[in-house]
Amino acid sequence: MGNIADKTIYQIYLRSFYDSNGDGVGDLPGITAKLDYLENLGVDLIWINPFYPSPQNDNGYDISDYTGVDPRFGTMEDFDTLVREAKKRSIGVMIDLVLNHTSTEHEWFQKALQGHPKYRDFYYFKKGKGDLPPTNWASKFGGSAWEKLASSDDFYLHLFDVTQADLNWSNPEVREALYQVVDFWTQKGIAGLRLDVLNLISKPDKLEDDFIGDGRRFYTDGPHIHEYLKELHAKTFGKKGLITVGEMSSTSIANSIRYSNPAEKELSMVFHFHHLKVDYKDGEKWQLDQVRFAELKELFHTWQVDMASGNGWDALFWNNHDQPRALGRFTSDKPEFHYQAATLLAATIHLMRGTPYIYMGEEIGMINPRFKDIQSYSDIETINHYQLLQKEGLSERETMEVIQARSRDNSRIPMQWENDAKAGFTTGTPLYPVSDSVSWINVQDALREPDSIFYFYKKLIEIRKTHSVIQFGNYTPYLVDEERIISYLRENEEATLLAIHYYGETPHEIPLPEAFLQGKILLSNVKRSQLAKQITLQSYETLAILLPK
Ligand code: GLC
Repeated sequence: MGNIADKTIYQIYLRSFYDSNGDGVGDLPGITAKLDYLENLGVDLIWINPFYPSPQNDNGYDISDYTGVDPRFGTMEDFDTLVREAKKRSIGVMIDLVLNHTSTEHEWFQKALQGHPKYRDFYYFKKGKGDLPPTNWASKFGGSAWEKLASSDDFYLHLFDVTQADLNWSNPEVREALYQVVDFWTQKGIAGLRLDVLNLISKPDKLEDDFIGDGRRFYTDGPHIHEYLKELHAKTFGKKGLITVGEMSSTSIANSIRYSNPAEKELSMVFHFHHLKVDYKDGEKWQLDQVRFAELKELFHTWQVDMASGNGWDALFWNNHDQPRALGRFTSDKPEFHYQAATLLAATIHLMRGTPYIYMGEEIGMINPRFKDIQSYSDIETINHYQLLQKEGLSERETMEVIQARSRDNSRIPMQWENDAKAGFTTGTPLYPVSDSVSWINVQDALREPDSIFYFYKKLIEIRKTHSVIQFGNYTPYLVDEERIISYLRENEEATLLAIHYYGETPHEIPLPEAFLQGKILLSNVKRSQLAKQITLQSYETLAILLPK
């Protein structure tokens, strides 16, 4: 698989990245058209969200044909061209496979509905308790996780939307069929795989009511998960050395180590989400709370230290297509702090141990659009929760406040290429409304301005490649008692690196350790050029000092 420690991965939400044919929807040729931009940034791989045929109820995470290309995104030839052109620029393509569930329009599910016994056993069909579902499990998109068939007393399991039926991984035929899917794409020359909600694939042998929760404790990191991943690895990508990342919902450190320690032969790395729940109220995504900064810091430190001690490997990220932008969530997103806050967030994770991910637009500091009315939103989870919140009695204003903060559409709006009404994303009507912020946040300006967020990201990608301490150094939390600071030391045989990230808006004085006064400033977002025993940190300052051995 090569070295995963020196790489940076760029995530492309295909439908809103770049539209090459004017239909308002981003497409595969649109990515090919922007490869020079990505090469300039310096990323090693691009992760592309699902582009397979799909009714698009969950924007492609409801796949109806695993080995095709949805015509709205292009053709198989376009995909091959993209892989080829990317390779020329030393960029690998990472595809996104959804192996936990299929669309109910998938041939397998359709055959199951027709009563084909082989395909019945591809899914979870169960008798209900009268009209009540077989268990009390909840769908992650709201409501019950079971849907009753119109034609019989049977229900089928869907942990997500009703049109996303969970596959039965305990059936070896299902696993075999999915391995063939992985092989199909591997033969097309992909370099990596992002595997959607992968730690949910192993359901318990007996499906029972959960008297203390919504069922997730029964199937999260489920009973046969490691067995299945070892088999997946052995039968598919393990032979090819692909870079793999599993999306692991509510997972634990112990499991994450097993998923990603190379000796376990499961995956290269894991996405976990605990750090993105520190502004949930009582674990509830749709209830607003302040960011609990101490908890955020503690989570980073604990995961970094423990993953290293178990030789696990983290995917480092703040943003993706399911998250509101971190800029404006963990920091201010006001114009006067824009550069500093965006670069602070970036440096915080890019200097950690793991493989950093950049979500499209993050490298120019894109922010949440805060659309005023629900008509501007289209995500299925958002619409479901809009209705649920209204049912709970929240006023329109209160409901929209939650939607603006939490909707997944926040990050799904068009990539801001140019300062115009269509963000330079399309010549047609963009599928999502364009954010007003396009006037001051766009690629065109970022490329022209030598001190832009873009060039800071470029530098982060470069220094990871040139400094082995960033790749492999061990991790020790530092300045832990400083309330608004995330700081750590990285150390290996070549150097020690001290990173200080200040999440405050008012100047704040801290002492620097004597030894580091001889060090070199590797990174600063405030043009700091001098070190002293006492320094005064500026708003959202980030500072990294390198001390060679
Ligand atoms: C993952 C995807 C998300 C999708 C869900 C169901 O969390 O990232 O976009 O809705 O899985 O497939």
